Amino acid sequence: ENDVLILAVESSCDETAAAVVKNGLDVLSNIVASQIDLHRKYGGVVPEIASRKHLELINPVIEEALQTARVTYDQIDGVAATYGPGLVGGLLVGLSAAKALAYVLHKPFIGVNHIAGHIYANFISNPQIEPPVVCLTISGGHTDLLYFKELGDYQILGRSRDDAAGEAFDKIARVLEIGYPGGPAVEKISKEGDPVAVDFPRPFINEDNYDFSFSGLKTAVINYIHNQKQKGKKLHIPDIAASFQQAVIDVLLNKVMKAVQEREVKSVILSGGVAANKTLRQQLSMALAEKDLPLYTPLLKLCTDNAAMIGAAAYYQYQKGDFAPFSLGAAANLSL
Ligand code: KG4
Ligand code: ZN
Repeated sequence: ENDVLILAVESSCDETAAAVVKNGLDVLSNIVASQIDLHRKYGGVVPEIASRKHLELINPVIEEALQTARVTYDQIDGVAATYGPGLVGGLLVGLSAAKALAYVLHKPFIGVNHIAGHIYANFISNPQIEPPVVCLTISGGHTDLLYFKELGDYQILGRSRDDAAGEAFDKIARVLEIGYPGGPAVEKISKEGDPVAVDFPRPFINEDNYDFSFSGLKTAVINYIHNQKQKGKKLHIPDIAASFQQAVIDVLLNKVMKAVQEREVKSVILSGGVAANKTLRQQLSMALAEKDLPLYTPLLKLCTDNAAMIGAAAYYQYQKGDFAPFSLGAAANLSL
């Protein structure tokens, strides 16, 4: 039989993860050891703590991925790891573990771009997706709008010129002191707030391009908070959060709608940690429904960092013989 089993490793940020994926679609195991609790008291990921924890967890997590999948080392066809973008210390841990295994098993080693992983998570959850598609990838580090003519062949339409969408959520959550990680905290408290309470700016919304900018919005929220405090007014946190979230959603939605109007598209796919935001999903799928276009999103657990998505992206590279040499290094600032 021609089944391809990939063992994939992900350690670019604060999750130590390993998965076994069959033929790019079938997730046999997906183990994620989150370090969120360790970093919470610092209000963000501390790189040095993260890489030490990855080192401690990587072997047990890989072992558990194989056991859960009921797969032995010699059944694996290729070993994949994220090589960027991300925190260099963490990346090195996953990369070294994957290279060592590939070397010992005499199997190909595949270096995967983390952002490509987020995109391919969509194809695990929705194998029926047919190109051409517009893809919005929104995470803590990236905001990319892409056009796929075919699978594996994409064009970048636009990206963020400053902060990523998730980064904006995280920074605002910190200013509002509502918890870490920021995205889920903002989404939760926004449910009690009024999204039109404060009229925050929608940067770039009417510009004739597909680029994003979120740092000005962040500054506007911070200035608003300062002004309210100076006037001695009590802050209504849920209203501020909901108004901020709506401003981000309006910009994202507007650019996606512009992209589907200007080219031939059969569906839209959403990926990255911010794709977990249900308010965004609902509003975007409603806007697309008016154009008879479906919106596909990965399952929630495949939206945030995991290794199954790396195994899915690695499968398409495996098919093309796109293997990496053992000299492949960690690339902290890798882009698509
Ligand atoms: O993809 P991911 O897990 O890691 C990166 O590659 O960055 O994305 C993490 C980002 C964080 O900024 C987090 O606040 C954001 O995704 N996020 C959300 C939600 N869940 C996670 N943002 C908005 N709403 C959410 N429900
Ligand atoms: Zn990610």
